[in-house]
Amino acid sequence: MKRRTFMTGGIAALGLAGAAWATGSFGPIFTDGAAPLSANSFSTALPIPPLLEDLDSAADSVRFVLQVQQGSRSFFPGKTTRTLGYNGNFLGPTIRVRNGQRFRAEIKNGLSQTTTLHWHGLHLPAKWDGGPLQPIPADSSWNPDFTIKQQAATLWYHPHAMGLTGDQVYRGLAGLFIIEDELSDRLDIPKDYGKDDIPLIIQDRRFLKSGQFAYVQNMHDQMNGVIGNHLLINGVMQPVLGVHAGPVRLRLLNGSNSSIYKIAFANQQSFRMIASDGGFLERPLAMNRIVLSAGERAEVLVDFSAAPIGQQVSLLVDQVRGSRFEALRIQVDRPAETAIKLPTRLRSFDRIPATEATVKRSFVLESIGMGIVGGGLSINGKKMDLNRIDERVKLGATEIWEIINRSTIMMRTSHSMHLHDVQFQILDRDGKAPPAHEQGRKDTVLIAPGETVRIITRFHDDPGVYMYHCHLLEHEDDGMMGQFEVVES
Ligand code: C2O
Ligand code: CU
Ligand code: CU
Repeated sequence: MKRRTFMTGGIAALGLAGAAWATGSFGPIFTDGAAPLSANSFSTALPIPPLLEDLDSAADSVRFVLQVQQGSRSFFPGKTTRTLGYNGNFLGPTIRVRNGQRFRAEIKNGLSQTTTLHWHGLHLPAKWDGGPLQPIPADSSWNPDFTIKQQAATLWYHPHAMGLTGDQVYRGLAGLFIIEDELSDRLDIPKDYGKDDIPLIIQDRRFLKSGQFAYVQNMHDQMNGVIGNHLLINGVMQPVLGVHAGPVRLRLLNGSNSSIYKIAFANQQSFRMIASDGGFLERPLAMNRIVLSAGERAEVLVDFSAAPIGQQVSLLVDQVRGSRFEALRIQVDRPAETAIKLPTRLRSFDRIPATEATVKRSFVLESIGMGIVGGGLSINGKKMDLNRIDERVKLGATEIWEIINRSTIMMRTSHSMHLHDVQFQILDRDGKAPPAHEQGRKDTVLIAPGETVRIITRFHDDPGVYMYHCHLLEHEDDGMMGQFEVVES
């Protein structure tokens, strides 16, 4: 019952609890289960989410069925955790489509509460967006039907019902959505799904002693986001992945509720980033560390050609405010299976010139200190209201959105700004051009405390109402979200 209050009542209703937290006296309402529980150390093979079967036999269309269901999983020996999943116990299958295909799906809600299914990163008609405006009540289905009109990219899907997003994702609802196109076919890069093209859904979780997930437990969790102390890759703690002694493509998704991850290899091994949220970069970028905020993706190529068979490399994931995890061990267990000559150039990339924008908007992300009645998390001083359209955008317009993370000494919180329907480009961070790996197509962007980020995008094709919000899901559920309507002029 408490949890419902937290999720729907928001911060304002909890002014007193907030004050108690601020003085550090809320008491032991949360018992962290970390200490007495022990996970299975690097003995489980990394599970690869299966590709969802296309029930349509025609080449130019696909049809999928997803069943939203309750389940359970044993994350710790002798403990059973109640979970949610799509067509299974935890997480969901990978949906793979091609640009130009007609996409149809049936989403069956087998839960006892409302859910939605949002296609994060997809450019699509508003009524199929799967945000809070398209609820799927318990025991009913939803049948989106639209055409894929965008380039190859690693996107994902997750629920988005008002006030329930964080909780439902936490319990297991999320999956990958991969788009392929002629370019991704043609490029000489690893593309054998599950073999040398590996999805890595990175999430962290916290557990109660009973083995159940410890979702929002107090005001601090709501304001700072729920930061877990166990790391899951594709739903499993400390898995091992066997790879060939050749190039391997990793599709990284920060699928956590509110963590910002720094991802690197323990041996400092470099890799090449080839794609950001919305698809391929202009050329592969050599890096040895990447930062992903909640909701962001990156595709990277790691070359194990020089590694002797038997070599192990650990993937480290650091929470920006939290712990460092040895997240995954990659073991080179067989000779190279493909002879790939990795490209030095991926695609041509047209940057949208700032001069093309006809409208500029500002969005102030604010987290007022706790204990202030009516405070909490807001955008331009407002909390999400389904009955209010915050911004009206003309169909076809190019706009610059300036996003300001106003932070106070009391509350230095990062935010992860996400827009539905569009892929945008980052113009600048505090007036400076973004680093090369952030110069590609993006739908989610980290905004550090005190930082101002300007993005530019074109709003084309589809009129209707879409969301923009912080992708720290506890922030989103607390109202750090707004609606923009694309209108025909
Ligand atoms: Cu990934 Cu509005 O969501
Ligand atoms: Cu989205
Ligand atoms: Cu936020």
